[in-house]
Amino acid sequence: MRTDTPVTVYRKDYQPYPYDIPHVALAFDLAPEATEVRCVMQVQRKADASADAALVLDGEDLELVSVAVDGQPLAADRYHQSEHSLALYGLPADASVEIVSRCKPAANSTLMGLYVSGGNFFTQCEAEGFRRITWFADRPDVMSRYRVTLRAEPAYPVLLSNGNLVASRQLPDGRNEVEWEDPFPKPCYLFALVAGNLTHRETTVKTASGRDVLLQVYSDPGAETKTEWALDSLVRALRWDETRFGLELDLDRFMVVAVHDFNMGAMENKGLNIFNAAYVLADAETATDANYEGIESVIGHEYFHNWTGNRVTCRDWFQLSLKEGLTVFRDQEFSADMMAQDMDEAAAASARAVKRIDDVVTLRAAQFPEDAGPMAHPIRPDSYQEIGNFYTATVYEKGAEVIRMQHTLLGEAGFRAGMDEYFRRHDGQAVTCDDFVAAMESVYVRQHPGRDLAVFRNWYRQAGTPRVTVKLEHDAATRRVTVTLSQDCQPVGVEKKAPAGFVKAPYHIPFAIGLLDREGRALPLRHEGAERETALLELTTQTQQWHFDGIDALPVPSLLRDFSAPVIVDYDWTDAELALLSAHDSNPFARWEAGQELATRQILSLADARQAGRTLHADPAFIDAWRALLTDPSLDAAYRARALALPSEKTLAERMQAVDPPALAVARDFLRAELGRQLAAEFRQAFDDNQTPGEYSPAPVPAGKRALKNLALSHLMAAGEHEAQRLAEQQYEHAGNMTDSMAALSALINYGQGEFPQQALAAFYDKWQDNALVVDKWFALQAAARYTTVQTARELMKHPAFTLRNPNRARALVFQFCLNNARGMHHPDGTGYAFWAEQVLALDALNPEIAARLARALDNWSRFVPALRTPMQAALQQVRGHEGLSRNVQEIVSKALE
Ligand code: SER
Ligand code: ZN
Repeated sequence: MRTDTPVTVYRKDYQPYPYDIPHVALAFDLAPEATEVRCVMQVQRKADASADAALVLDGEDLELVSVAVDGQPLAADRYHQSEHSLALYGLPADASVEIVSRCKPAANSTLMGLYVSGGNFFTQCEAEGFRRITWFADRPDVMSRYRVTLRAEPAYPVLLSNGNLVASRQLPDGRNEVEWEDPFPKPCYLFALVAGNLTHRETTVKTASGRDVLLQVYSDPGAETKTEWALDSLVRALRWDETRFGLELDLDRFMVVAVHDFNMGAMENKGLNIFNAAYVLADAETATDANYEGIESVIGHEYFHNWTGNRVTCRDWFQLSLKEGLTVFRDQEFSADMMAQDMDEAAAASARAVKRIDDVVTLRAAQFPEDAGPMAHPIRPDSYQEIGNFYTATVYEKGAEVIRMQHTLLGEAGFRAGMDEYFRRHDGQAVTCDDFVAAMESVYVRQHPGRDLAVFRNWYRQAGTPRVTVKLEHDAATRRVTVTLSQDCQPVGVEKKAPAGFVKAPYHIPFAIGLLDREGRALPLRHEGAERETALLELTTQTQQWHFDGIDALPVPSLLRDFSAPVIVDYDWTDAELALLSAHDSNPFARWEAGQELATRQILSLADARQAGRTLHADPAFIDAWRALLTDPSLDAAYRARALALPSEKTLAERMQAVDPPALAVARDFLRAELGRQLAAEFRQAFDDNQTPGEYSPAPVPAGKRALKNLALSHLMAAGEHEAQRLAEQQYEHAGNMTDSMAALSALINYGQGEFPQQALAAFYDKWQDNALVVDKWFALQAAARYTTVQTARELMKHPAFTLRNPNRARALVFQFCLNNARGMHHPDGTGYAFWAEQVLALDALNPEIAARLARALDNWSRFVPALRTPMQAALQQVRGHEGLSRNVQEIVSKALE
């Protein structure tokens, strides 16, 4: 049994490490059953450290073979090994410490440290995986230069590590040996090695300063036909970082390797990024538009980490958002720039809005619930039990919003100046979020004499989603509009346990606003010496007022344009005002938002009716608003597909007093079908007008057409039109790409009649059974299907292709069912929750990090309707009571039950 006692670590307890470890030499004798690792560290006591400071190293699941100092075996009384640490005493101020240990890669199902996947060796060290490879100071503020020797049988011809290849030879015993040297000091979480039988695609490009650099993408033999998009994306990312941020690749060689067993999306190891294959492999036949977009964005993300994460890294893991929030912001901007390139101004603005909408949809579905639940934490947490549990939507996505607000406050040029200053001050260091804000502030105070970012720092200190209440008054005599903004943020998560008298401080909220007259025309706003359609109000106290003059009548406000801050807006628009904004707002984001608010009201009122047992009716005014959007010729297809998408159950749930997912699912389904019936002709027209014949391209314009066409198809199918099924069958049989194929198959299995849908599903598997990523799609489609019950999910788990050991497969079936199948999961008989508990425990025995992610599916149980709340609580208690639970899962379920 594991003895995984949870220990809480606090940010305030940070202490510098007493030793520097400037150099590390690692030698690996790679073998799946037992790999021997020799680690030679140059260890130097810091000048200000006490002379008797022990050298305390971390280790997990390692067998210690030997310890030596300066070439001599260390006497047994000079070191002490406990469960997770090794302490060495009485070291000279400058010593060479050699530790030999063994680990077991083939038996490592945690996918942290060194493990085997598909017969090859891979590593994952962030956050604390390096301690599963060798005893080391496993913390990001210890930075070392690495020299790595890899020795392996010829069955592993490709041997990779960070930096540059400096030697390669065959050993007398027939094994191969290579040496890699990374010229840049790095924390151990950025260490990586890959060994195995791999193929690659490569290209050489010239950097801005004229250096030739080799870019390579490695994959399983046979998959080299699917790495072109990833390699092209890498070239685009390299160029973009040079152009937009003046940041150049600092290595001669940059490698990306695809692996099928991986806990996260990808990892930015210096010069050797290791990727979940789902974010590398793509071709038209097997990857969807969303897959292409995801690959480009994750390739960008990991590449951008080379500066924001690797050159400047985190002092401790509480600072995770320093690199993640910033790098997500950078990848979002990269994607937006790629989508908008080669477009005219209006099309580019729409493409950017589409990207912004997609990012905000993600934030609201994943981060807002987190910020309102038991795991709520500031983007820079104050404590954790298991850092693996803090790779969250808050640290990443809200963290990116906090960076974006600084970008908004400083402007593009100001932000760039702040970034330059950040690198000037901190290149080569391990720093804090405060250091980042200080660099930005140095620019902000020059731009805005008398102001600073003191209040802004509360975004890093406090959790929860602030609520901004808006009041609008008009004085006819003075033709003046007065806007009053008030903010409020209730204590959440750990803040609720704060001592009495704890009051949250106000935030610095950049709040973009526009005003429309009653015909929908934009009113010019005079603000801070300029006249514009959009005014950026900086709310820094609890309540503030602004005046706008020369306005004849009470206008309709367009609020939080472009989602200028991660807040919830309270303003009581009438439905007619929302319809006006939805039809006329010149800010495409706010225009989308108005339509979404209308749809939200509509679905919530349908869910109410459903709960009260009343007949469901759609409001004709809502149908009219949707018709207007669907048929507006000025809107491109990608934008229309977003504008017409019904808000997700996760977003809607945040608006319910007591969450009732099945009622929401029924309401959404009803509305989808009703729209399909009442707008049948318009949807059919959109379906016909947005076909994309010819060769497949994942570019935004054809992808947008497919999105709209397939949205139309789903409405027509939901409405039960016979003709629609014919269209879906035809599309399925003739689809030239995976997007159309999946969309048709999804519509068919969810709404189709007769035998075709299930036959198509079976044929789909037969066709793609050798492609793991497509088989994942096949499982995911069924796991989320309307007809899928717990029983169906259990049957699917018996399929020979199913395994919990592969995280992508577990996500495709188990996570998909538990997180996205409202009816099957949230059944009042509690069988969905019992299934969840079983799977959490089964996964925990294999891979605690993945188990803890699934555990979070019941975070917000206390906000559900009583009939669901009770069995949810019981399931959580069952998991908490299980003996031998990992500390990862313990932290999640105990916080949920607190
Ligand atoms: N550092 C990694 C990333 O976000 C963790 O998955 O890119
Ligand atoms: Zn990242």
